[in-house]
Amino acid sequence: MSASPGQPEPADAPSPRTVLVSGASRGIGRAIAERLLAEGHRVSAGVRDPAGLQAETGAAALCRQAPDRLLIHPYEASAGDAAPRGPRAWVEATAERWGGIDALVHCAGVFSRVGLQYADGEEEEIGRVLDVNLMGPWRLSRAAWPLLAASGDGRVLTLVSMSGKRVKGRLAAYGASKFALLALCQTMRNEGWDNGIRVTAICPSWVNTAMAAAVTAIPRQAMTQPQDLAASVSHLLALPAAAVPFEFSVNCQLEA
Ligand SMILES: NC(=O)c1ccc[n+]([C@@H]2O[C@H](COP(=O)([O-])OP(=O)(O)OC[C@H]3O[C@@H](n4cnc5c(N)ncnc54)[C@H](OP(=O)(O)O)[C@@H]3O)[C@@H](O)[C@H]2O)c1
Repeated sequence: MSASPGQPEPADAPSPRTVLVSGASRGIGRAIAERLLAEGHRVSAGVRDPAGLQAETGAAALCRQAPDRLLIHPYEASAGDAAPRGPRAWVEATAERWGGIDALVHCAGVFSRVGLQYADGEEEEIGRVLDVNLMGPWRLSRAAWPLLAASGDGRVLTLVSMSGKRVKGRLAAYGASKFALLALCQTMRNEGWDNGIRVTAICPSWVNTAMAAAVTAIPRQAMTQPQDLAASVSHLLALPAAAVPFEFSVNCQLEA
């Protein structure tokens, strides 16, 4: 199919990338992994339960469609650098399969309603939220950094949140983890710039996944859909280094 007279020819399909996607079992990460696979990228999916994902009908179909472009590897975001389910093992297995890594999409994350006046015993949850939402992406980025730098055109896309830019209500633990994650993104942008690594902090408000299941303030169909974010990620990955936005904010409600 060619463009109509007077219209620009569509751009060539972008080169396939080798992309690590954390939290690829469901929600936003799953939608991103499926979209990138369908577009011809090589996807290394980090999940807590690889056998469970492989047993799912939809995932099994994906594995059959693209067995040479999909790796499903165990990944626990709170695991230490060198733990069997930690970031190093996942990064090494991916590099062994495809010879390198040129993009990282951080989607693994947890929500928490723990507030400033946390109840006795809730301090542990604050630590867990910070560990998964902040230290998880930190450890994984650190493990993948030399390979991202070696690619010369690496990308890091991180599911931060609007909660990394403003705090609604009393979500102290979640908001603190996401503000800190945005700071980490800024540092990664600074450190990676000279090696061609470009970083984008994706900041949606409500997205229609299990994480937003308890939200009643807005109908689910009025929320941002995970497939729409996947389309945005696909576009962001295709942009040249000089055109990559650092921040990508997505509102499903006016916040003026
Ligand atoms: N949904 C929203 O409204 C919204 C808005 C803004 C930002 N975000 C952010 O977007 C990201 C994805 O959220 P989502 O809406 O897709 O949530 P979701 O549907 O609840 O999925 C969360 C994903 O994170 C994984 N995960 C959780 N804890 C993990 C751990 N300790 N180690 C490894 N993986 C872990 C889950 O794996 P399992 O299947 O193993 O549990 C799942 O794949 C999160 O960082 C979230 O904060 C979400």
